Amino acid sequence: MSNSLFRKKNISSILAEGPDDSHGSGLHRVLSVKDLTFFGIAAILGAGSFSSLGTAVFNGGPGVIVLFIITAIACGFTALCYSEFASRIPVAGSAYTYAYASFGELFAWIIGWALIMEYSIGNIYVAYSWSDYFTSFMDKMNVHIPEYLATSYMEAKHAIEKGATNADDIKAWNTAPIIGGIRMIVDVPALVINGLITYLVYRGVKESRNFSNVMVILKMCVVGLIILVGGYLVFSNGLTPNWLPANDEGVHSFMPNGFSGVMKAVASVFFAYIGFDAVSVLAEESKNPQRDLPRGMILSLVICTVVYILLSLVLTGAVNYRHFENVGDPLAFIFEKENLNVGWMQTLVAISAVVAMTSVLLVFQMGQPRMWMTISRDGLLPPVFQKIHPKYKTPSFATILTGLVVGIPIIFTDKTFVLDFTSIATLFAFVLVCGGVLLIPSKEKIPGRFHLPYINGQFIFPLIIAMAIFFVWRYSDNYFQNLLNFDFIYADPDYISGKVTFMDLATPNVSLVVFWVGAVILAILSFLKKYSLIPLMGVITCMYLLTGMTKSNWLWFTGWLVVGVIIYFLYGYKKSKLAR
Ligand code: ALA
Repeated sequence: MSNSLFRKKNISSILAEGPDDSHGSGLHRVLSVKDLTFFGIAAILGAGSFSSLGTAVFNGGPGVIVLFIITAIACGFTALCYSEFASRIPVAGSAYTYAYASFGELFAWIIGWALIMEYSIGNIYVAYSWSDYFTSFMDKMNVHIPEYLATSYMEAKHAIEKGATNADDIKAWNTAPIIGGIRMIVDVPALVINGLITYLVYRGVKESRNFSNVMVILKMCVVGLIILVGGYLVFSNGLTPNWLPANDEGVHSFMPNGFSGVMKAVASVFFAYIGFDAVSVLAEESKNPQRDLPRGMILSLVICTVVYILLSLVLTGAVNYRHFENVGDPLAFIFEKENLNVGWMQTLVAISAVVAMTSVLLVFQMGQPRMWMTISRDGLLPPVFQKIHPKYKTPSFATILTGLVVGIPIIFTDKTFVLDFTSIATLFAFVLVCGGVLLIPSKEKIPGRFHLPYINGQFIFPLIIAMAIFFVWRYSDNYFQNLLNFDFIYADPDYISGKVTFMDLATPNVSLVVFWVGAVILAILSFLKKYSLIPLMGVITCMYLLTGMTKSNWLWFTGWLVVGVIIYFLYGYKKSKLAR
């Protein structure tokens, strides 16, 4: 067959070889729309809200709510695009399968490769955060886990190198036993929870689902309580002026660090939304995927968006945003003695954080093996990835491998690194999913199935871009001149002292220039090809969020993609079913 890198599968052939029960993929079809929504919430609400929200609030102040709204809009458009694909191609590969039908094999492989970041590497961040809350919960129960057994080696090392003040990291470094010249610092709770989750997923989807639903109900109740109790205290203690804090110049503002401060929080905020798309990997286990997957995805996204906006309001109302520096447990922090002072809430938050993050781990750990299984069916990965356990009916080899892909890096990475890596790769995949919808042919409406409404973007989209250009030009002083002017770098003290490189400081500008050029090209294409407006908006909003990524994010991510492409040429290109 074809030798082209862009060889595509057509949708009917994906469905024909796919996992209909009659073809016997072996997976159980047990999930309803309620289960899928619960799965969505299980995946979304976790370390992002319980942990990285603190950094986001510190960077952006109350104005971070704007970023939550922008990100929700970007994810909303993307969810609609995922839904369109999921209703057409209800098999387990998610974005990977969708790219196969729209962009062709090489892009599909690249997406599958990028999504390892979302599913597996993202779980490393969640496991670390889980360990943070678990350790502090155990402390409250008077069981102390030594710092060197609950901290990642890299985090302690970086803290020492940078002269950071985090007491736990410093203690971990100073008290760790040294064997063969190496400090024995390892995050044991993170490793243990990863082992337990892997076992649970290995045992089967039904068991996992029951466990997951209970956890979702519990975490929603506690988050609701945080919003009610915290919100009540913000008003009754007269703390609402915190929503307009003073910046360094003493000016009161909703965005005390400006919009650039808000954009610094992109990786943390976006991470909080990751997960709605994981629902689509359960296509082969849901009873009516064409109807229920889109509903589950969108419902869970809407619920979590409301929760995030309310949580950000409570957090930034309860405590001045500046106090969130290095706070890894922001939801418990607001109830501490010097803040709202509600002791029982602190304990409750610690317990629910552990529960919330366990459910995130569970969903992603289920998603990864199912995606690999689909890739293997296409011949791009060895057949062993399709192996289904005879008794538990789960992809057994791929599940164990996922456990190792999450577990081994826990030993030698740290939180910030994996957070950035996960967010950039997922955003990249989202851009391609939305772009993919632009390329697939329109279909007939079938009652009872999701159908993405076609709104002709021929005039509306170029108009939106033109208006955006006009507004930034009119209301932001010298916006475009500043983007192209790099003189400010030469005056930067960190640049002069050699602490940062030229590209470190130039990256935000370069990303924005690329963004605006891309936007204009997309506007021209949409004018010529009458593209559908919703996917266009998905592409452009996700591209905008990508402008918040740093130079090192881009470097690492590019390196990862290069490795992926090499593996494709060494294996998948020859072994692909389409090549035979
Ligand atoms: N959105 C997920 C979380 O916040 C990944 O943990």
